[in-house]
Amino acid sequence: MEVRTVTPAQRSAQLISGGGLRHVAFIMDGNGRWAKKRGLPRAAGHKAGAEAFRRVAHYCRDIGLKYVTVYAFSTENWSRPEAEVKGLMLLLRQYLDEIERTADKEKTNIRFIGDLSVFDRSLQKRIADLTERTSVYPAVLNVALNYGGRAELAHAFTKLAADGKREITADDISSALYTAGQPDPDLIVRTAGEERLSNFLIWQSAYSEFYFTDVLWPDMTERDVDAAVEEFFRRTRRFGGVVESEK
Ligand code: IPE
Ligand code: IPE
Ligand code: MG
Repeated sequence: MEVRTVTPAQRSAQLISGGGLRHVAFIMDGNGRWAKKRGLPRAAGHKAGAEAFRRVAHYCRDIGLKYVTVYAFSTENWSRPEAEVKGLMLLLRQYLDEIERTADKEKTNIRFIGDLSVFDRSLQKRIADLTERTSVYPAVLNVALNYGGRAELAHAFTKLAADGKREITADDISSALYTAGQPDPDLIVRTAGEERLSNFLIWQSAYSEFYFTDVLWPDMTERDVDAAVEEFFRRTRRFGGVVESEK
């Protein structure tokens, strides 16, 4: 008899193809601690973190996740030492250079969510062009840059007020966010042992499942993504109701 073994990637892909998990968001945390453990500068942790990001983003696409969001730089991260912020911005520019060249091979719609108005116009234009050019691809990768959930909501309310909206519904708010038109994250993964949102997707996470792992982000592998996917499919999501099997 032929024994067919299912690889972990096939198993994750199978689970995902069954439905229920469309959007995974990652709070990529622990770059600094990863570097410290090795006696390296924090910048080395961010560089390794950027590689982990590429690895995880590719893998998520390969196993069939339609929406992936990564928290790359928060509105609060500007308070870090200037040299660290500069290093992070350099890594982001390097990623943009790369993805502009490879986006069509990746077949992914790249979006940047956050307040991009603080960046120079040429960078904003490159981001807008990239998003537009890749909008033909169904898989979406959101890179949260200068992102803060409170700032996002404030921006959304300002927009709705400017449109003359007086009675604002929850749907109006969802439609005015940077993630307009996308499903809310089904699963939010945070690395490095911290169990908080740190101002990430505070509106969109109302019914997200949370998965916390002690793995430091630069160490994050495909197998750690599989573990999060497996765990997600063990959860019962009730959305305030009663599910059939528990009646
Ligand atoms: C995540 O790693 C990267 C960013 C927040 C930009 P950290 O830099 O927060 O790493 P730790 O938390 O100090 O270990
Ligand atoms: C959250 O991580 C922001 C990003 C991952 C970009 P932080 O390291 O900034 O979060 P806190 O400060 O520990 O809450
Ligand atoms: Mg951190």
